[in-house]
Amino acid sequence: MAFLADILSRVQPSATIAVAQKARELKAQGRDVISLGAGEPDFDTPDNIKDAAKAAIDRGETKYTPVAGIPELRKAIAEKFSRENGLDYDWQQVIVGTGGKQILFNAFMATLNPGDEVIIPAPYWVSYPEMVAICGGESVFPETHLEDNFKLRPEALEAAITGKTKWLVFNSPSNPSGAAYTKDEIKALTDVLMRHPNIWVLTDDMYEHLVYRGFVYHTPAQVEPGLKDRTLTMNGVSKAYSMTGWRIGYAAGPKSLVKAMETIQSQQTSGPASISQWAAVEALTGPQDFIEKNKAIFQGRRDLVVSMLNQANGLTCPTPEGAFYVYPSCAGLIGKTAPSGKVIETDEDFVTELLDAEGVAVVHGSAFGLGPNFRISYATSEEALTEACTRIQRFCGNCK
Ligand SMILES: Cc1ncc(COP(=O)(O)O)c(C=O)c1O
Repeated sequence: MAFLADILSRVQPSATIAVAQKARELKAQGRDVISLGAGEPDFDTPDNIKDAAKAAIDRGETKYTPVAGIPELRKAIAEKFSRENGLDYDWQQVIVGTGGKQILFNAFMATLNPGDEVIIPAPYWVSYPEMVAICGGESVFPETHLEDNFKLRPEALEAAITGKTKWLVFNSPSNPSGAAYTKDEIKALTDVLMRHPNIWVLTDDMYEHLVYRGFVYHTPAQVEPGLKDRTLTMNGVSKAYSMTGWRIGYAAGPKSLVKAMETIQSQQTSGPASISQWAAVEALTGPQDFIEKNKAIFQGRRDLVVSMLNQANGLTCPTPEGAFYVYPSCAGLIGKTAPSGKVIETDEDFVTELLDAEGVAVVHGSAFGLGPNFRISYATSEEALTEACTRIQRFCGNCK
């Protein structure tokens, strides 16, 4: 009898973490490696947030909290949804978890029965299908296209729906493509869902605040209020406030679902770290100018990277509206021979050869369900990005 559970055969380790690990190993061997694999801002957490955490420790806020989070934070989140998204939730419709990741897990765990289907547009964040698999569900992956900036077309959504569909996972701006949907683009999708009253929307709004050049952000329940009773609107402080290590994510939705998620969390981790919750209260209620400053920096980096990649032989890089990722196609290099003599047959070959030849670590698109592409995170200095893109141009020029 095998000791490890059968479910492990259905779960893949994270490709993004594997790339970061390989880059670290090469660096340890003395190689000059630029890692563009990270999914976190390179800025420090703002001082006012750190100070709020220190004050919470000094006040003795160091004990268990209610499972769904301290009322002060749940109220600040309800207020955030009202102020920024035009969504009115009672604070008891809000749950706080240990990162956005736990919120997503809770939602799938609380709703999926064996065979239930979850629509996840490709390219997708690597964790969605793995979480669905762990919870016994089946993922369905409608494809998107580079010429649509990797946004799901309504007819592709319609075609993916079956009698078993339980959720659509919607992620805008997207990890890995950076694509963000306009109000009209969201409406075209919510119109489809209005014709299918049993399907719920799990909207992952984690990158909400990272949209560029005047793009106006919208979330599905705001665009189609008729869907609010079957939407879980998920968000967090990790990306917007450079708080990835604090592990605070949250969501609001119908009370029955939030209650079910709370039941799961009560037997798993209980409430998130008390100190992090107080830090998140400050993030959401304190000064917000940090976000605008970072946005301006990210926007400059995005423009630099898109422009340099489009000058590389065989690469095509659309300009994404948000997040801190670009998702260029390397289709023009498939079939060519890398400097090592190896023929590049897949995007995984492309990223492996690039890392070996030039010491630039990126993540292959097939890990995100759509290739031949690769993902670059531009959450690093302009200097490192310029050097990395110069090396990518040289590598592509050397593939014959
Ligand atoms: C699209 C998306 N959703 C959720 C998360 C998870 O966020 P957290 O770090 O708060 O768990 C990430 C983190 O990479 C992400 O990219």
